[in-house]
Amino acid sequence: MMQKSLTDKIYYIGVDDKEIDLFEGQYVVPNGISYNSYVIMDEKIAIMDTVDIHKAEEWLSNLKDVLKGKAPHYLVVLHMEPDHAGSIKKLVEQYPSIQIVSNQKAFQMMEQFFEDLDVANRSYVVKEGDVLSLGEHSLTFVTAPMVHWPEVMVAYEKSQKILFSADAFGKFGALDTEEEWDCEARRYYINIVGKYGAPVQALLKKASTLDIQKIFPLHGPMLVENLAYYINKYDIWSSYKAEDEGVFIAYTSIYGNTKKAALQLKEILLQKGAKKVAIADLARDDMAECVEDAFRYSHLVLASPTYDGDVFPYMATFIHHLKSKNFQNKTVGFIENGSWAPMAALVMMKEMASLKNMRLIEEKVTIKSALKKQDIIALEKLADALL
Ligand code: FEO
Repeated sequence: MMQKSLTDKIYYIGVDDKEIDLFEGQYVVPNGISYNSYVIMDEKIAIMDTVDIHKAEEWLSNLKDVLKGKAPHYLVVLHMEPDHAGSIKKLVEQYPSIQIVSNQKAFQMMEQFFEDLDVANRSYVVKEGDVLSLGEHSLTFVTAPMVHWPEVMVAYEKSQKILFSADAFGKFGALDTEEEWDCEARRYYINIVGKYGAPVQALLKKASTLDIQKIFPLHGPMLVENLAYYINKYDIWSSYKAEDEGVFIAYTSIYGNTKKAALQLKEILLQKGAKKVAIADLARDDMAECVEDAFRYSHLVLASPTYDGDVFPYMATFIHHLKSKNFQNKTVGFIENGSWAPMAALVMMKEMASLKNMRLIEEKVTIKSALKKQDIIALEKLADALL
């Protein structure tokens, strides 16, 4: 039971999900995920979003504990993705007189998701800048299209200076997880919202006009102090700037020879004084973390064997993810391996050249089958070009 008081009238009623195998059908979440939901107990009672349907019962029980027999007036829906909107119908069944506050786009989606729900008769349509007064508290709605879906809004509660930020400032990991915010917030942001840097920048601009003292997101911890720190991280991520000076070596290897070259490059870079070198095996390490690291560091090295006249499949997948997330603004070096017709570097270079504002290190390293003495010299040169 997670229900707790955040201010004297605002309560957390969200739930942790540690049973989920893959979040959004693709992301491993070793420490689970939280679906956050809040209640504002004022003259009018407002519930801020629901939770994933798999956790509806626990959430409704948290809600009931806070309501203490009262009936809620409003359900505010900031985002229609099922991890937050999945329990709308269950809530309405329990509290049929509730009005649903959201925007036109969201109501359209609500009808798509819930065929049997009478949306029209309980919809309270709001748009940019509209204010919903609850008594002492009031919610001002600010649209945030594509942070992460087109219908997304955030809501600013004026009396407590709280921004209900929807997916923005969210993080993987259940609320009882003891871990630093950055790593799992970054992996969440880059993989889920990464493509939409410009809309996030637009939201940050709008948010900068508000006096925000607390951020209550839909996943992960409520941020109640040092907000400049988190906002600065979001500014870096959404403007595709490198967060850390360093090199990320992403390799994939069939028999270990390309891996040897990648590890050797790491050694050389460290010997030559590289500030930070991260390395990952694209077949065995978490792909979402690899994508995260590619965004995080200033330099990237792609190392792949040639396979069917192309790159190895895990490298192709990695590149596909980078492209779909709007990867840009980086320096990239290349290592290829090939026993008869090395092709991988050419393919990788073409792909990277198609992205915005990339600096490609043209002097590639070509391994023929296994790493040899002359390859070390080529790796040294690549390291020099990266530093
Ligand atoms: Fe957490 Fe876009 O849903």
